Amino acid sequence: MASSGHLANAQTILSPGRVNLLGEHVDYNDGPVLPVAVDLTLTLEFSPLDTGQITLHALDLDKTVSFSLEELGKKIDLDGQPLPHFALYPAGVAWACQQAGLRVSGMEASYTSNIPIGSGLSSSAAVEVAFARAYMALGRWDIDPLTLVKLTQKAENDYVGVNSGIMDQFAVMFGQQNHALYLDTATLDWEAVPLPADVAIIVADSLEPRELAGSDYNDRRSACQQAVSALQQSLPEITSLRDISPTQYRQFAKDLPEKIRMRGQHVVEEIARVEESVKLLKAGDVTGFGKLMIEGHESLRDLYEVSTPELNALVEIALAQPGCYGARLTGAGFGGCTVNLVRDDQAEAFIQNVESQYAERVSKSAKLYHTHATQGAHLI
Ligand code: GLA
Repeated sequence: MASSGHLANAQTILSPGRVNLLGEHVDYNDGPVLPVAVDLTLTLEFSPLDTGQITLHALDLDKTVSFSLEELGKKIDLDGQPLPHFALYPAGVAWACQQAGLRVSGMEASYTSNIPIGSGLSSSAAVEVAFARAYMALGRWDIDPLTLVKLTQKAENDYVGVNSGIMDQFAVMFGQQNHALYLDTATLDWEAVPLPADVAIIVADSLEPRELAGSDYNDRRSACQQAVSALQQSLPEITSLRDISPTQYRQFAKDLPEKIRMRGQHVVEEIARVEESVKLLKAGDVTGFGKLMIEGHESLRDLYEVSTPELNALVEIALAQPGCYGARLTGAGFGGCTVNLVRDDQAEAFIQNVESQYAERVSKSAKLYHTHATQGAHLI
């Protein structure tokens, strides 16, 4: 049974979810991404324990587990049982910090979140980044947030075992109110790009579980690597799809196996879309930006093949509503959510119409959220 979540002398961290406006499946191809931290939030309360153990109360799951900081590599609890899946994220971040020579001290932590789980809104990155900040606060060390982001990505890749890029943890850490984050995943240079004040970010959750997402995700990663290897025969200087323009790609990718060619084409064109979209956002051209989102969705649907009938229906219904500039699936795909840019004064009508028209069309329900760009994980 989990505790009530009120710990003595606790500190509190708020950690947001994220949506990605453009730049999907490019963070593992050295390309640029454009995520936004949104105000769906994980709340983590934590206080020190002097036992060399971590006790987690996952309030939403009503589960508690304790594990030793000396046996993190074994992924077991105090009774020697395998850690439950939810505990791998906090344990993995502690492990990654230790690997980097940082002292992690004992802690009792309880957390709850209104970020839908497994919906492509980075609920797990929100947990990882929150715990990284908590370990830093209790361990009394101070490292720069980008290094902390890299440690959380290492936890996800090497401890949890999901081969994701850096976008999610970056967005959760660096989110800024009313801004999207342009991140070059090759150099890790980034810039906050102001979002127009009168535009709402509406997230639509298809409520479809993302089964097989891990293996499909890895399959797409490997297709991109295969495209690079094949193209290196004509273009030996390239190291990633980031190094090729869409024009070059058309010229050199003609003879690739069809699926590999399609995956690579999505990536090189998506990279070009992100670069263009940032210029449009800065110029206040939301209509032009929305068109690129629509193109991005079509490319994820037809070339990268990570959309679903439900996500396609959500996008089509959204685009038929007044005041909708753009709509696309967001995150890895294979289920999960769409993101929609909608005129603020049409947002509530948009939510009602999409929910009811979706239910009529696919006989399932979707859940829509009116979100705002918000600040990254922080102590309160
Ligand atoms: C998941 C991964 C990210 C990124 C997206 C697709 O969210 O965690 O690193 O690859 O998919 O853009």
